Amino acid sequence: MSANPYFATKSMARLEEEMRDENRLRRILGPVQLTSLGVGAIIGAGIFVATGAAAHNVAGPALILSYVVAGVTCIFAALCYAEFAAMVPVAGSAYTYAYATMGELCAWIIGWDLVLEYAVGSATVATGWSGYFQNVLNKLGIYVHPLLRESPWRYDAAAGKFLSTGSILNLPAIVIVALVTVILVKGIQESASFNAAMVMIKLAAVLFVIGVGAFLVDKSNWHPFAPYGWTGVSFFGFHVAGQTDPGGSPVGVLAGAAIIFFAYIGFDSVSTHTEEARNPRRDVPIGIIASLLICTVLYIAVVAVLTGMVKYDQLDINAPVSRAFQQKGIGWAEGIIAAAGVAGITSVLLVMMLSGPRVFLAMARDGLVPQSFFGAVHEKFRTPWKSTIAIGLFVTIMSGFLPIDALLHLANIGTLLAFVMVCVAVLIMRRTNPGANRPFRCPWVPFVPIMGILTCLLLMFSLPTANWWRLFAWLGIGLVIYLLYGRHHSVLQKDRDRGIPAH
Ligand code: ALA
Repeated sequence: MSANPYFATKSMARLEEEMRDENRLRRILGPVQLTSLGVGAIIGAGIFVATGAAAHNVAGPALILSYVVAGVTCIFAALCYAEFAAMVPVAGSAYTYAYATMGELCAWIIGWDLVLEYAVGSATVATGWSGYFQNVLNKLGIYVHPLLRESPWRYDAAAGKFLSTGSILNLPAIVIVALVTVILVKGIQESASFNAAMVMIKLAAVLFVIGVGAFLVDKSNWHPFAPYGWTGVSFFGFHVAGQTDPGGSPVGVLAGAAIIFFAYIGFDSVSTHTEEARNPRRDVPIGIIASLLICTVLYIAVVAVLTGMVKYDQLDINAPVSRAFQQKGIGWAEGIIAAAGVAGITSVLLVMMLSGPRVFLAMARDGLVPQSFFGAVHEKFRTPWKSTIAIGLFVTIMSGFLPIDALLHLANIGTLLAFVMVCVAVLIMRRTNPGANRPFRCPWVPFVPIMGILTCLLLMFSLPTANWWRLFAWLGIGLVIYLLYGRHHSVLQKDRDRGIPAH
């Protein structure tokens, strides 16, 4: 353990001892359920919603390649996640890995960053859900009142800035977040079986889009293939490569990858369920890698079909996948896909909102956030119910009032930062604990972690610069909380002060 308290690390022995503790979650999830949770967390608003605006305004048909780039980036990170998840099978994911390698301050930063990822990601998904839900309602001739159907602002790519929508809040998004919060407070068992049903529905929808859509492809729609160019990178406002939109944000294949990266978020949440896994050392790596591979293949096929069916600049922004079938004159398919989209996006929301409280739970056990609130596990339901409700409220507010683009970008940059830290942590752990038991070893170390770090950073620099400032602001708030609270309540520090060794 470092002499400097900010860099104090948790030893492997201590982590293992904590795993044997009493007040733990129930171990009920097997490999199929974990993979299903992964797929449930992955396929959602990204492919069903973000694909439209990304093809339309940022990458054109070359969005197919953006999906390849983002998929490869995630595979690098997933291999690193899998090594850690198998080695340190406790809840908390990247937060716990950072605590074991880079010390308390880094762990705090990453935990706080993960909460941002899951909360803002949930708000993004709820907003996307609202778009598909309204698509279903409209098919039935029902329309949400214009004042209540979306956030008060929307990003206008042609103008390059946010414009008023005339609405005051996104009521459907608020309602779905409230419902999911109630389900989650009731418990993981119900949530896992509900999730499994949803996953079946959305896989059927995706296979339908690929199978039927393939016959509706008109190859001329793939020309021009990359109307916005092949790159799109800026460095804190300085344009580095490729084109920009009128607002100065990068466009092109890399910029598209940075946006639809959102579609891949979720495989990492499998690792936050480690404590609920029956055989975490084997099944969590399987769940992470299998779910990511399944989704990568499906995504590339869906986007190839979609951009082949409809010219990229005619793809719908709110519900592009279902609307594409309407645009091809198959109205009945639109209704079915929109309904399946609602189910699929609901399952993402469920898993994402499940993950945030579990990160807080891990932080609370370490004393970095108040144990009595964030560490409270419900007597009967065995769920971290107080933090589930708190995060639910936060997500409600964001999804009700903020536009999807802004939420999505922020969720992406936060997640990419977490992936960078996990890749760095694997490199550090291989040096500091070379002999630790690694039931799953990330292959080709250091190549894979280094590529993970570089590709994630590249995507971070392909996002509009404002996101960096938002990320710094969030991390700044986190740092203040750590210095005022976490630093003084840390269980590790208290043990140290009492002279209890860290093993
Ligand atoms: N990957 C998840 C989605 O696309 C977050 O909705």
